[in-house]
Amino acid sequence: MTVRQILKMGDPRLLRVAQPVTQFDSDELHLLITDMLDTMVAANGAGLAAPQIGEDLRVVIFGSGSPNPRYPEAPIVPRTVLCNPVITPLGDAEVHDWEGCLSVPGLRGVVPRWQRIRYTGFDPYGDPIDRTVEDFHARVVQHECDHLDGKLYPMRVRDFTKFGYTEVLFPGLDATQDD
Ligand code: NI
Repeated sequence: MTVRQILKMGDPRLLRVAQPVTQFDSDELHLLITDMLDTMVAANGAGLAAPQIGEDLRVVIFGSGSPNPRYPEAPIVPRTVLCNPVITPLGDAEVHDWEGCLSVPGLRGVVPRWQRIRYTGFDPYGDPIDRTVEDFHARVVQHECDHLDGKLYPMRVRDFTKFGYTEVLFPGLDATQDD
């Protein structure tokens, strides 16, 4: 088990367009995913993208299969490992909701996202994944996949009156479980 260091905003490695996975079911890929899962769980994250631990690959993980202490009221998202994801918005509807990011600790902002999406990609064995999801699940996927294109959620904030420090915005939240 290896909990890796999570890069913070300002690190240029978070701004790269990551490379596609070309070798599935390899020892390297499985090891990377194990590290990502350990790191996400240790940080109470809703998701993690490989670039956040400095790996230049199009791999994201998200979901827990159980309630997330950071988002206790959010619906349960199945634990998913997704390689080479492609997102297609379904319809024009956007939803605005709060997001945080393990690479932007201590802050939250309201971010517009597509309400309903289809996402496709591959699991670590190269088997296809194809899901149509909405709301929180769709938000998590869009946030994580943005990391693969060098985008952090503050770059998508439109209303900067709704961007600030978690401890100020949400004084009741347990700071140890923030971001
Ligand atoms: Ni993030």
